Amino acid sequence: MEVNISDLTWDQFIYPRGGKSDKTINAYVEALETGAQFPPIKIQRVFNYADGNDTTEAIIILDGVHRSSAFKEKGIKKIEAVEWKDKPLDYEKNKTTLLLESAECNTRHGDRLSPGDKKRVARDIASTDPECKWTEEALAEKLGVSQQTVNTWISDIRARQKTSRNTVILRLSRLGWPQEKIAETTGITRGRIAQIVNNTNFGEINTLLAQGRDMEYIARHYSMDLPLVWTLRLEGKTDQEKFKELGWGLRTWDQWNFNECDERFGDDWPGRIPAQLIAHTLFYFTKPGDPVLDPMAGGGVVSDVCLLFERKCQSFDLAVRDNRPEILCHHWDPRNWKWPITKKPDLIFFDPPYYIKKEKEYEEKANDNTPSISSYTKEEYERFLEGFFLLAHKNAKPTTSMAFLNADWRDFESTPASKEKPDKSITIFDYHRLLSEAGWEVTHRIECPLSSERLSGNQVQRIQDKRILGTVGRTLLIAKRA
Ligand SMILES: C[S@@+](CC[C@H](N)C(=O)[O-])C[C@H]1O[C@@H](n2cnc3c(N)ncnc32)[C@H](O)[C@@H]1O
Repeated sequence: MEVNISDLTWDQFIYPRGGKSDKTINAYVEALETGAQFPPIKIQRVFNYADGNDTTEAIIILDGVHRSSAFKEKGIKKIEAVEWKDKPLDYEKNKTTLLLESAECNTRHGDRLSPGDKKRVARDIASTDPECKWTEEALAEKLGVSQQTVNTWISDIRARQKTSRNTVILRLSRLGWPQEKIAETTGITRGRIAQIVNNTNFGEINTLLAQGRDMEYIARHYSMDLPLVWTLRLEGKTDQEKFKELGWGLRTWDQWNFNECDERFGDDWPGRIPAQLIAHTLFYFTKPGDPVLDPMAGGGVVSDVCLLFERKCQSFDLAVRDNRPEILCHHWDPRNWKWPITKKPDLIFFDPPYYIKKEKEYEEKANDNTPSISSYTKEEYERFLEGFFLLAHKNAKPTTSMAFLNADWRDFESTPASKEKPDKSITIFDYHRLLSEAGWEVTHRIECPLSSERLSGNQVQRIQDKRILGTVGRTLLIAKRA
């Protein structure tokens, strides 16, 4: 078949070399001038090919970039081509296979691939293949080198992938995931998972600490996340010993002030809450081994603290990320309530968006079919909470505690305190009422104020001049099933 050269795409990822060679193109141009014939180039039609923000169809060159460049330079518009597969392929799903096919063609003829190019191909494939579907043997065969050569090229990537995979397995297992479910998620057999969970030895942590290494160093050394390294370091200690080692003073009274979030735990996330707040909730209202439910997990700080304090945890959110395998996608939808777990929790740590506060930030993480509750009207928001509290009540144990964190929403932004309208506000009293109506009896009201140091001197002056009453209040209500 003949194709228009202008329709062809030279794809940098699929192309197995560092770049085009001008020398080869010039030699082909000269050969064309003397009437030389060239074998057809090899192409593949693809769809789902990124084009700016959109995706499109494309014809990519698997073999013959130099030939088609030489034709173009000579002003020739068409070139003979053969198709690799006779129907278009999904580019994103077949990227690696296309790269390998292209590499294999280029190992056989013409301007052969240099060892440097082959190494780049092997490393590119290994990095995009964390499940190790491409064995060293298969890569060696495709690239025309020995298995040992491939091993030296990619062993560091495979070692990192193995440790980070083990880290995921340990995290999920300690949070209480059954081995079948971990096997399903990671694509690793149950037997292998049991081996990793039972045999991974981190006895060296204390030795490294004794040598003066810090926790960040140890996390890097094991290719682990910091919360997991802290978990292993504190394993077996009492809750109180853990507070001490983490440098968190244990609050004795029902006022929990924490100036800022402890950066070691949870990801940067809109509305992130301090790990210390969760640790105190676990300390007072649960014991080691108890299952906790975090229905709107955001940056994952609840699961990190559950790991540390050896509680089990199931986490959900409408926004999920690769670095947080424990957070499962679930949209709490008042039109179709679903309770996604079978194991009844001892504690539900519920930290929803505080009405429309941070509406924009949460909307960016949501989509039209699964909107964040921060886009609800006041009535919808209240109805949502009412529905959620009822659903949780129905699915909880008689002894389950509900820890509900929220803040007064008042229409105070540019309104003097004496002019605020109650119909625009939702306060802790409303939440208290909604909990009671759904069958939850509030047992504790704990004040966990936000820091007041967020505002500049000028902003404070403006607020004072207008007699606006700002708000730093944030309250944790603890409730039991009535
Ligand atoms: C206040 S944030 C949680 C912050 C988290 N505790 C932390 O410290 O990182 C509330 C979360 O609720 C999620 N969310 C909002 N509406 C939701 C819904 N209907 N279903 C599931 N998640 C929802 C948002 O994506 C957001 O991550």
